[in-house]
Amino acid sequence: MSTIIPAKGVFINNRWQPSSSGKTIAMIAPATGKVFGEIARGTAADIDAAVAAARHAFEKGAWGKLTATERGRLLTNFGRVIEKHAEELALLEATDTGKPMKQARADVTAVSRYFEYYGGAADKVHGDTIPFLNGYLVNTLYEPVGVTAHIIPWNYPGQMFGRSVAAALAMGNATVVKPAEEACQVPMRLAELCAEAGFPEGAVNVVPGLGEEAGAALSSHRGVDFISFTGSPEVGTLIQIAAAKNHIGCTLELGGKSPQIVFGDADLAAAVQSVAGAIVQNAGQTCSAGSRVLVERRIWDRFLTDLSQRFSQIRAGTPAMDLDLGPVISAGQKGRIGAMLARAETAGARILARGQIAAGAPGTGYYVTPTIYHEVDPASELAREEVFGPILAAMPFDSEEEAIRLANGTDFGLVAGVWSGDCSRAIRVARKVRAGQLFVNGYGAGGGIELPFGGMKKSGHGREKGFEALYEFGAMKTLIIKHD
Ligand code: NAI
Ligand code: MG
Repeated sequence: MSTIIPAKGVFINNRWQPSSSGKTIAMIAPATGKVFGEIARGTAADIDAAVAAARHAFEKGAWGKLTATERGRLLTNFGRVIEKHAEELALLEATDTGKPMKQARADVTAVSRYFEYYGGAADKVHGDTIPFLNGYLVNTLYEPVGVTAHIIPWNYPGQMFGRSVAAALAMGNATVVKPAEEACQVPMRLAELCAEAGFPEGAVNVVPGLGEEAGAALSSHRGVDFISFTGSPEVGTLIQIAAAKNHIGCTLELGGKSPQIVFGDADLAAAVQSVAGAIVQNAGQTCSAGSRVLVERRIWDRFLTDLSQRFSQIRAGTPAMDLDLGPVISAGQKGRIGAMLARAETAGARILARGQIAAGAPGTGYYVTPTIYHEVDPASELAREEVFGPILAAMPFDSEEEAIRLANGTDFGLVAGVWSGDCSRAIRVARKVRAGQLFVNGYGAGGGIELPFGGMKKSGHGREKGFEALYEFGAMKTLIIKHD
């Protein structure tokens, strides 16, 4: 895309307004390394204005007066609006993140589904009647928490907006979104489309800007009632501290080092396809990327030969080339990955197989060659830390116990996959692995929008997606009524 997209400002009360900073941040297309636009550099003052707009919408404005059914209709209808703008949104997402068009299109479909799903759910969240003492009627009520903050990352900007904002809106909250400075075109466009689709003023506000500036101002703001964060464990810690200082809740989704465990009796052809796909998807920049493969030693050679063969066909290219993967998000991320791999090689890891960067991919883009490493020491950084690139660490195991020990051998616990033809064993192993989502004989990085998703251990806490997310964005009240 050669057109320069100008900075629009900050989106508050259904209007673009100039940021108080007057400053902008250049937006770089990862596929080419070239500037394609600018965004406003939102400030603490802009965050103040956005939080005030959301507070007003929630307490006094038209948004807070809608019934659950009316909110649901707005959300469901917005799902259709997204479908109508699907190609435009997919192109924007692909330019901003570098991902292949087919991935960008799938992302937009998911955003639309989030609004459709949570639209349908909006008027189906209800409390209980609890048996208590004679002469009492006790009801529980679910109410919105109020103003919710959404600090989202750059890997799936549209999907992250859909997954957290749609659930918060369905519960009746008013939202302030701080998208990532590396990629935020789609969240900004979605906010604009929300206004066109009839969401009342202040329900959806978006302040682009830097993490340590706009992000920190939002997470520490006293007018915020709940924070939904997806990103790095380091920033997750800061978010939790900020939430603690204001005595509010937060969900933290902090990535993983998700294993796929392949037993000798598995459908190996299916496992090969899935293991390759789960690390290559989005260039490995997926919180639930299958970044480790643990293989039973008796099939190690055969499995790794087939997997290497599959990997050798994988190619990275521009969004328009629409190959298996695109570049990583930035020069910084590419450098970070390169440094990690250099340390891994020093620690003894060896390259087993590589994909390719297609000839037509610009040399100025941030492409990383998909690579499988073997002889990876389970105690090393490559085996334990998130690379966030198309890099797979392969390790053998001899017994079920060892497989479980290796699977649980990192600080993370987001997703895991178990491959076995023995159903009892697959279930037994899955139940011993500490992760928020467990796949048996399959692996869907991210899973479906209907499926509760979130971490254990360093992967974070709280659940997004599915019905479960609605309860995170709701506050329960217990109403105790005495009668004669
Ligand atoms: P990050 O955690 O810095 O960024 C995520 C979001 O947090 C962005 O919107 C950013 O602006 C915001 N942020 C940054 N500092 C903040 C602060 N002090 N207060 C409030 N908000 C702040 O992640 P980054 O630096 O982009 O990536 C570093 C690593 O984090 C990646 O290599 C990857 O391992 C992991 N990551 C995991 C993601 C996931 O999906 N779980 C998504 C993005 C990154
Ligand atoms: Mg960061």
